[in-house]
Amino acid sequence: MSNVATFVVPIRWDDVSEEIVWLDNSRIPWNEVYTSSKDLHRLITAIQGLEIRGAPILGEAGAYGTAMVANNSPNSNDQILKNAIEQGDLLAAARPTAVNLGWGVRKIQEVIRSEIGKGSSAPDVKAAAIDCAKNIQIDNVSATVKIGEQGKTLIHDGDVLVTVCNAGTLACDGIGTSTAPMRAAWADGVRFRVLTTYTAPLYQGARLTAWELKKDGIPVQVITDNMAGHLMREEKATAVWAGADRILGNYSEESGTVYNKIGTFGLSLMAKELGVKMYVAAPTSTIDPLHTVADVRIEQRKPQEVETLFGGTTVVPKGVGVINPAFDRTPPSLVSAIVTEIGVVEFPYSSSIPALLESEGSMVKLSHDSPGKRQ
Ligand code: MRU
Repeated sequence: MSNVATFVVPIRWDDVSEEIVWLDNSRIPWNEVYTSSKDLHRLITAIQGLEIRGAPILGEAGAYGTAMVANNSPNSNDQILKNAIEQGDLLAAARPTAVNLGWGVRKIQEVIRSEIGKGSSAPDVKAAAIDCAKNIQIDNVSATVKIGEQGKTLIHDGDVLVTVCNAGTLACDGIGTSTAPMRAAWADGVRFRVLTTYTAPLYQGARLTAWELKKDGIPVQVITDNMAGHLMREEKATAVWAGADRILGNYSEESGTVYNKIGTFGLSLMAKELGVKMYVAAPTSTIDPLHTVADVRIEQRKPQEVETLFGGTTVVPKGVGVINPAFDRTPPSLVSAIVTEIGVVEFPYSSSIPALLESEGSMVKLSHDSPGKRQ
């Protein structure tokens, strides 16, 4: 395996204080501050305020948050289950687009149900919930390293790679998802450079991805979002690398649809026009086999994020409306390949993703209710 290192732990469970500790993404790159809480409402505020963000980390937050609710409950199995269901569902609704948040919550709810079904004592049910959340984090970290191995051969000497938002360690744990093939290739001696888009209005590309790649010593330059088309052509970009908040994965023609940070769809169109590859890297836990385009809600965030520069200088005239969708939808036909921890799949995704999910090691399985399933 390549010599790649995890340099921050974005979220963890503290066994002594029995609370969740996280690195506040909203304060990077100015401050590297860890915050902690055992209060679910504080955790929800942290998720909605993007202190904790990125699909795989939201999966971990969903799992730790639900385990924390169980742990905070009185030693009664009925009460543990009731709280984990009611408060877990509240947590799952904190942000609507990334599929991992609800996935992490449901994993813990399932473990609690199963432990209670086996007749475990309340302290054992709580311990099992926390262990399961820790294991989800271990699996996530390991998935990022495997994504690096799966994707690194797609990166070559002299490449100019474009990325959007942050799908690095801060968003995904380990070595990130879109950053994983970059880090693994770099560790193998492949030399390339990266252009990261601002990713307005919250600047995750400028603040977070640039911060991470600089720490790695990987050459990175920040560009504003509206420079992308021009610079992809002038700098001879070779590939776009994006993460994903949700990938539809079923038997229908919608399979391979990628929900990711606003700007991804635009980059995929530019990539097609310029003959540049459009790669998406994500763990299989980001694949959603159950829902369709009609079901997925794209989060609309507060107008203030667009009206002001980080809550400071106002840049929009008073009385003028703004629109602030946090994510967009890229159709499967624009995605050259999807790199996961268990394999790389290509179009047509209506057959390649179901085959992937049926293979060993997938974190999600196809269900009988998956859209487009042929009986
Ligand atoms: O709103 P955020 O910062 O949570 O959005 C995260 C993204 O959209 C990232 O680009 C990423 O690709 C998905 S998380 C790995």
